[in-house]
Amino acid sequence: MATANERVQLLIDRECGGSQQVFADKTGLTKGSVSQYVNGRNEPSRKTAAKVAEVFGVTPEWVLGRDEESTSRKEEGKRPMREWKKSEKLDGVCYDVRGPVLEEANRMRDNGIDIIKLNIGNPAPFQFNAPDEIIHDMVHNLRDAQGYSDSKGIFGARKAIMQYCQLKGIPNVTMEDIYTGNGASELITMAMQAFLNDGDEVLLPMPDYPLWTASIKLAGGKPVHYRCDEQQNWYPDIKDIRSKITPNTTGIVIINPNNPTGALYPKEVLEQIADLAREFDLMVFADEIYDRLVMDGKKHVAMGSLLPDRMCVSFNGLSKSHRIAGFRVGWMVLSGNKKHAGGFITGLNLLSSMRLCSNVPGQEVIQTALGGYQSVDELLLPGGRIYEQREFIYNAINDIPGLSAVKPDAAFYIFPRIDLGKIHIKDDEQMILDFLKQQKVLMLQGTAMNWDKPDHFRIVYLPDRRTLGKATERLKEFLDGYSQY
Ligand SMILES: Cc1ncc(COP(=O)(O)O)c(C=O)c1O
Repeated sequence: MATANERVQLLIDRECGGSQQVFADKTGLTKGSVSQYVNGRNEPSRKTAAKVAEVFGVTPEWVLGRDEESTSRKEEGKRPMREWKKSEKLDGVCYDVRGPVLEEANRMRDNGIDIIKLNIGNPAPFQFNAPDEIIHDMVHNLRDAQGYSDSKGIFGARKAIMQYCQLKGIPNVTMEDIYTGNGASELITMAMQAFLNDGDEVLLPMPDYPLWTASIKLAGGKPVHYRCDEQQNWYPDIKDIRSKITPNTTGIVIINPNNPTGALYPKEVLEQIADLAREFDLMVFADEIYDRLVMDGKKHVAMGSLLPDRMCVSFNGLSKSHRIAGFRVGWMVLSGNKKHAGGFITGLNLLSSMRLCSNVPGQEVIQTALGGYQSVDELLLPGGRIYEQREFIYNAINDIPGLSAVKPDAAFYIFPRIDLGKIHIKDDEQMILDFLKQQKVLMLQGTAMNWDKPDHFRIVYLPDRRTLGKATERLKEFLDGYSQY
């Protein structure tokens, strides 16, 4: 009996010349969703099946592979069995950072194949260990961290976050405006759930960290991507943002420093975004989780510091700066003018209470982490691992024929461009999969970060220089002569 995944693949082969992208264009689905349907990670919902059926002149039952089953069961005089499907709320929600390519990598690993992983921003496996003081203080406080805390977090943690906001010039942040979370991730999803009504549009960067797109969709909103301009160090294109604002636009997201480009936005660019927020009355969401990972003596300017008269919701955490992604420590801060946001804040408080509280042992180390000596600074100076690895990867990528990359200012990502005139690619996920299978190196395709062409990919340059050297040599060898035409 055919499955929905096989039926989608059949339509791709029969009606779209074998191209998932053509199928996506014809049906209005995202390439990410199509690839999930094909590889069996997801099935189309009834609504999606109806859309696909209409485009290709078949029935939704056929798309879902239920036609044969219902006929055979009917013939046997039985009621068709109920199918337990993924909820329709998840239609179009993608998070390919942990997608099908990673699944293939895991399969290879389980078969004993050694893979170089340049795919995920998780410092600990690359010998970026947490500062000893963090481990010591977590152990020290463990006995006192057994119960639930206040839903927003323990006093000491929130006080430290409040003081951090003072140092960054973020105005009007009281203890009540701070929410700790199980990573910034939990709070991003929570904020979108509290903020969005069905059909509300939120502007967000392209490329983006895909949790943002997924969270907006999950909350019923419509993600509208604004272009970040590679020619301008990947800064947000203000004209493009302006052109995409409609009466339904309620918010704008900035990710600064940026994942996946590594760009750090200068104050002038942030001021222009602040002006747009004023002009069109937009809520600003600032994901600043990499704000302590800036190189070359540059300074991070907090978005909230430029918006004393408007409301800004900022996100931060210790996963990256303190190399404790597994401890799940993040926070969200409301700043500026909150006069007109009573309803939204009530919603946030409700959702925050419903999850009772964030991981309390994790909260216990926030004060330790934010005060005093910051060990991450050493990693970002010449001679430090992140700095030296950035220099290495930037030069190595630009030395590969057909590739180029803008030098990242911050974080540990680089987002190289493939010259499609020289290297013939139509499906970047396929390229990443081929590279993985042939050369045992795992990266992430740009379309997984909502980039709109198959001509970019992301490298996480956390592995040491020797490993990066091996990976880039293999990339050079792989791309030499690689073609999908
Ligand atoms: C831009 C951005 N925001 C948020 C997160 C999630 O961080 P956390 O570990 O605090 O959930 C990440 C993780 O990679 C990220 O890159």
